[in-house]
Amino acid sequence: MRLVVLVSGRGSNLRSIAQAIDEGRCAATLAAVVSDKADAPALEFARERGIPTDVVPFRKGDDRAAWNERLADTMASHSPELVVLAGFMRILGPNVIDRFAGRIVNVHPALLPSFPGHDGPAQAVRAGVRLSGCTVHLVDHGVDTGPILAQGAVPVLPTDDAASLHARIQTVEHVLFPRVIDWIA
Ligand code: GRF
Repeated sequence: MRLVVLVSGRGSNLRSIAQAIDEGRCAATLAAVVSDKADAPALEFARERGIPTDVVPFRKGDDRAAWNERLADTMASHSPELVVLAGFMRILGPNVIDRFAGRIVNVHPALLPSFPGHDGPAQAVRAGVRLSGCTVHLVDHGVDTGPILAQGAVPVLPTDDAASLHARIQTVEHVLFPRVIDWIA
């Protein structure tokens, strides 16, 4: 199953998917890694591995619809069977969602439907919940509202801040996300 992975940042989920593929735990191939940020460390990792990369930058004042169209064309040029959002920090426009309908998965650092949107871990700490985790879901037109495929839970400790909770959540993401991609494959 050909994956196009969208990233904006560190790329620890991209690494965990690549490792799972290498170890035969995820029946997929990394067709391309696409970013909105030219300096995303995730791109560096992809280049080191010889995975094709593309950057579709969004600049202040850019036309949103045109950027979405450029992004969708770039994604389509790699013929993805599944689009993987792995720390992609921009909301995809309706034209992108429709073009890859039912074939986009995201990992969110909270137990949806609680704490959607920006900074799930900080929201969980503020709310004082004792359990949080990650959600792998299909992407629809809302923000973190698509059908839930799998969740993994972690405790929230009294000493946690957003960063320490996020780090604990990511250890679960790194196991769950490649597993769900393998299920889909
Ligand atoms: C992950 O925690 C994911 O839940 C959220 O963005 C983060 C990306 O981290 N959507 P990384 O770039 O994969 O390390």
